[in-house]
Amino acid sequence: MSFRFCTSFLVSAALVVGSAHAQQASDTTAPERATGTKTASRVEAKDFMVAAANPLAAEAGRKVIAEGGNAVDAVVAVQTVLGLVEPQSSGLGGGSFLVYYDAASNKMTTFDGRETAPMEATPKLFLDDKGQPLKFMDAVIGGRSVGTPGTVRLLEDVHKKYGKTPWADLLKPAETLATDGFQVSPRLASLIASEGERLKKYDGPRGYFYDASGAALKAGTVLKNPAYAETLKTIATGGADAFYGGPIAEAIVKTVREASGNPGVLSLTDLANYRTKEREPVCAQYRALDICGMGPPSSGAVAVGQILGVVENFDIKALGPDNVESWRLIGDAQRLAFADRERYLADPDFMPLPVKGLLRKDYLATRASLLDGDKALAADVVKAGEPEWDHALLFGRGPTLEMPSTSHFVIVDKQGNVVSMTTTIESGFGSRLMTNGFLLNNELTDFSFNTHDGSLPVANRVEPGKRPRSSMAPTIVMKDGKPLLAIGSPGGSQIIGYVAQALIAYIDWGMPVEKIVSQPHLINRFGTYDIEAGTDAEKLADPLKAIGFEVKPGEMNSGLHAIEITGTGLVGSADPRREGVAVGE
Ligand code: GLY
Repeated sequence: MSFRFCTSFLVSAALVVGSAHAQQASDTTAPERATGTKTASRVEAKDFMVAAANPLAAEAGRKVIAEGGNAVDAVVAVQTVLGLVEPQSSGLGGGSFLVYYDAASNKMTTFDGRETAPMEATPKLFLDDKGQPLKFMDAVIGGRSVGTPGTVRLLEDVHKKYGKTPWADLLKPAETLATDGFQVSPRLASLIASEGERLKKYDGPRGYFYDASGAALKAGTVLKNPAYAETLKTIATGGADAFYGGPIAEAIVKTVREASGNPGVLSLTDLANYRTKEREPVCAQYRALDICGMGPPSSGAVAVGQILGVVENFDIKALGPDNVESWRLIGDAQRLAFADRERYLADPDFMPLPVKGLLRKDYLATRASLLDGDKALAADVVKAGEPEWDHALLFGRGPTLEMPSTSHFVIVDKQGNVVSMTTTIESGFGSRLMTNGFLLNNELTDFSFNTHDGSLPVANRVEPGKRPRSSMAPTIVMKDGKPLLAIGSPGGSQIIGYVAQALIAYIDWGMPVEKIVSQPHLINRFGTYDIEAGTDAEKLADPLKAIGFEVKPGEMNSGLHAIEITGTGLVGSADPRREGVAVGE
């Protein structure tokens, strides 16, 4: 039986919300910063391609495939190298989502390697003694924010299912680089420098990212990580079980539980019980294409699908990328998607979610009708809608603040298998705790800090064993049942806007891959229009103000990596805001 909410109930629920964005407002962090020029290169290849955030990682993936491996084999090599050379963004201590198109079966599937809350965690994990939310960075730094890492289990599970190169061989490139040393990249150096005292709080990172005099490592310094090499050797022979049990697991738990000032509650039981979840992809039809990606616990595919589904009701192609009207529609479509996301999306294993209802064309047409005017939507109009739902559960709004860090890579192999994977330790350098050569995530701060919104429970509240809601949006676009484009980005909750904007540019405005990853960003999640400073996007600032938007120029730290599968080969590009490359043959 289907159930539709009574409007008056929703309106009264909205009235008890209070400060819906308190978690955003309390933020004082320095996100990962953008570096590099704004011109992306276009890379063409015939047989296969890897695009990732660091040249060493992309090269490791390229070599695996050149030597006979497939896309899933390359995932293991790329991720383990990224965890070494781009440690601030992702790694063995974090979680990830992988969207996979398998050419042999012509099927798409997704793997959820998201971190889980420890079994000892309670919904009040991020509340102080007075029941007030902790300041964001007070929650992040230390053991409290560390969830059970998922990436190592995910790598092993997908490899067992689809890989063909021996597992141990795939860990070798990272192990060799960790033993012989790699050059600290300009981006990593600048991020260490911008951390100030934060990254020095705990022994592990202090000893690794700073020299003996306490100075931040400079770009070009050759950095060795023997502990990481040892960890990889252990996993090479013992598999993921040697990570989730034994000395590595014991060291993770000790590091978390003994973090001075802010200990956590992760236990050996949490690690031993961690499982990857294989889930159906969530697909939204846009124009004549299927936009497929990661469903809950990520909000990525649903929110991207909703934005596109609202925009589809307008002739955005005719309006074009320079017209303020396009950005009025895109910006307010984003705000409406974020209002739904806040209320309805969380870990699907803990509560029924109205995913189908949120993506129904008739629901999105109703949402689109809110945009029929010519001014920015008033704040009181931007609230969660009433999607069709077959469970009579109602949640309050649960704002979260995902930090703009993370990493995204895409791979297409010789057989036509396609990988789109977004991977993270949450904020830059995660919890700032390090053990066995890798940083531990702070993913639990992706939960809502508040348990309730007035009298309503928050769907994304902390609960034992639960996965925090994500914005990660690894995406594969399908045309006539075959992959056309693999894309995704880091960037916290801005990921959703980055990916949606890139898809509109590609599908409606006909931009080539190198343009969709480098075009200036305009993102509106919560009412303020973030506009990428120093780019042509600033030309739209006054026109957007004139129609009622609040506008905030600033750095927009995407890391879009994309590969297009054309009739004759592959075209890839890496976001020039980071250090990535696309390589192929
Ligand atoms: N921690 C970033 C995200 O999951 O969206």
